[in-house]
Amino acid sequence: MDRAQAAKELERLAKLIAHHDYQYFTLANPEITDEQYDALRRQNQELEAQFPDLRRLDSPSLRIGSPVSSQFDKVKHRKPMLSLDNVFNEREFVDFEKRLKRFIKMPENAEIFMLAEPKIDGLSASLHYQDGQFVLGATRGDGQEGENITANLRTVRDLPLRLLSEEAPKNLEVRGEVYMKITDFEAINEQRRKQNEQVFANPRNAAAGSLRQLDSTITAERPLHFFAYYAQDLEGNIAETQEELLQKLQSWGFVVNPFHKLCKANIEMMRYYQEMENARDTLNYEIDGLVFKVNDLHLQERLGVVGRSPRHSIAFKFAAEQAETIVEDIILQVGRTGVITPVAVLRPVIVGGVTVSRATLHNEEEIRRKDVRIQDSVIVQRAGDVIPQVVRVLTSKRPNDSKVYHFTERCPCCNSLLHQTPGQVAKRCLNGFGCEDQAIQRLIHFVGREALNIDGLGEKHVAKFYALGLVATPADIFSLEERNKASSEPLEKWEGWGKQSAQNLWDAINKVRELSLDKLIYALGIPQVGQTTAKLLAKHFSTFERFLEALLKAHQNNLAVHKELMHIEGIGHGMARDIVDFFEQKHNLQMVESLLKHINVIPYEENNNLLLSGKTVVFTGSLEHISRSEAKAQAEKLGAKVGSAVSSHTTFVVAGKDAGQKLKAANDLGIKILDEEAWQEMVSTAR
Ligand code: IVH
Repeated sequence: MDRAQAAKELERLAKLIAHHDYQYFTLANPEITDEQYDALRRQNQELEAQFPDLRRLDSPSLRIGSPVSSQFDKVKHRKPMLSLDNVFNEREFVDFEKRLKRFIKMPENAEIFMLAEPKIDGLSASLHYQDGQFVLGATRGDGQEGENITANLRTVRDLPLRLLSEEAPKNLEVRGEVYMKITDFEAINEQRRKQNEQVFANPRNAAAGSLRQLDSTITAERPLHFFAYYAQDLEGNIAETQEELLQKLQSWGFVVNPFHKLCKANIEMMRYYQEMENARDTLNYEIDGLVFKVNDLHLQERLGVVGRSPRHSIAFKFAAEQAETIVEDIILQVGRTGVITPVAVLRPVIVGGVTVSRATLHNEEEIRRKDVRIQDSVIVQRAGDVIPQVVRVLTSKRPNDSKVYHFTERCPCCNSLLHQTPGQVAKRCLNGFGCEDQAIQRLIHFVGREALNIDGLGEKHVAKFYALGLVATPADIFSLEERNKASSEPLEKWEGWGKQSAQNLWDAINKVRELSLDKLIYALGIPQVGQTTAKLLAKHFSTFERFLEALLKAHQNNLAVHKELMHIEGIGHGMARDIVDFFEQKHNLQMVESLLKHINVIPYEENNNLLLSGKTVVFTGSLEHISRSEAKAQAEKLGAKVGSAVSSHTTFVVAGKDAGQKLKAANDLGIKILDEEAWQEMVSTAR
């Protein structure tokens, strides 16, 4: 056989084997015998051995995994991978529906079609197909950027390596959930127990652990599965509705969850929710609720995104599962921000299929309110991946000699006096990096995926560097390489390290010496300041100097700083106080100052390339076709600021019906005025 023939034959085999994989793994309806199937695989393998460079990206031989890689590459998502907002009861669900309708100016009593899908408790993954071939697969990561786990995903049997239909888009991205079946999870744990290995806490962790193997032959041995629920064609539209999209996915060879259902009215949604909650225990995979998605994809587009969640979809969570057990002890944990959390150590009990041996008691007040004591019988519950909780004490079963639990006055780790901010329930250790438990967690947060994202510096390494006195604060990370050079026991000689891996670590550290302002603010680990707030602060202060200058004032006139922070939309009273408090701690300031000697903070930059970047728009009067919030969202998406009053800084005013004062002001100031139609035209040309 010559090269051209071999290439043709390999293509034929890839297609044929893909077809039989689908019949066997997905439809459980094999058309050929195992022997015939093995023969095809062998033919493929032999041909690849003859022509190694002709091995295809969608070759069936890649299903068994490929040799170890040293780390995962980063993959920037074409569109962010968002998360879903949750609701927990009918009232909240109805509120969600109302919000939706208000946003698109739909009458409240009109019905909106929603597609209900089970919310699979697994890990989301993004798959890229080019000309029908699976070419790239990534984890969600921080939503913006994930990790390239293509080799591992190739081993997932019900994920097509090539699409079954020639009509599929040439440039396709599919997203869905990787999960492990409960019976497989149990079998793996059984085996691990026998071999004295640590067991997985739940199927989700087992799936995550399997997917993050650097050696994909290990992943190949773990039975992972995939449900597809989203697709985008980079050149056009795939479908009109979510329901049609799922049909398309299926026709291309993906497995979509069979329990999706189009609901045409609220009553149907509630009924289906009940039905699935009852059916939940009969499924061989974990689901923790239903996802309701606006079925019309054009409406989805219009609804857009708030923060990190789309407006068009919601996770309606199931009620938590419960069980009875005994509190064997109460221990105290020191969190990253110094908050002391009491934890109940439980006699192990199975809750919703998973063994639970600890539950959070939240805080002192909660213990007092529930009067939880050591040796009490309690009801515990767990919901999805939420930490298990103690619901209530069964006081009738309480032993006679039990004693009320008293909360400590001192930090269980560093023994410093605990502090309680008036009005807050939490007790806190303010010792910061001086408290070992906090220091380690703050360092882990600092280098973690969503903060500096230093590859190769995992939790274990941080803990070890800390224990050896090599890294006590963030600044130490950046002087590590220098000190290592002078060390008699350099890192490259440690067990588990070598020249290359040590060099990789220095490279990874050096790469983040240039750091964007929002990342830095987030990485500092200020209580309550997550990524969204960090962005707001970065946007408001634009440079670190300005940010720090404002907060240094916290020492002199903390009210003014507090007020300035509260003026930033999205920052409330409690948050502002936590930010000010953080910088009032001298040791935090010192930590930041020494850190700044090693890094270069890049000022916050807005995307200036959008149609309305740097412009200010004011809406007035009532708009006919869209709600005010949608108009505002449209403007912000195009980079504009939305003003509330007309001034000389206003770029133009969009005037709806019955516009009054603001329209007049705009006329007086000679500011450009658009009507609703002109505005919509501007929005649509910008698409
Ligand atoms: S839609 C906006 N559909 O839930 C995100 N997500 O909190 C679009 N998930 O990261 C996701 N089952 O990992 C969607 N049927 C389903 C899902 C589902 C599970 C997960 C997914 C996502 C998380 C959102």
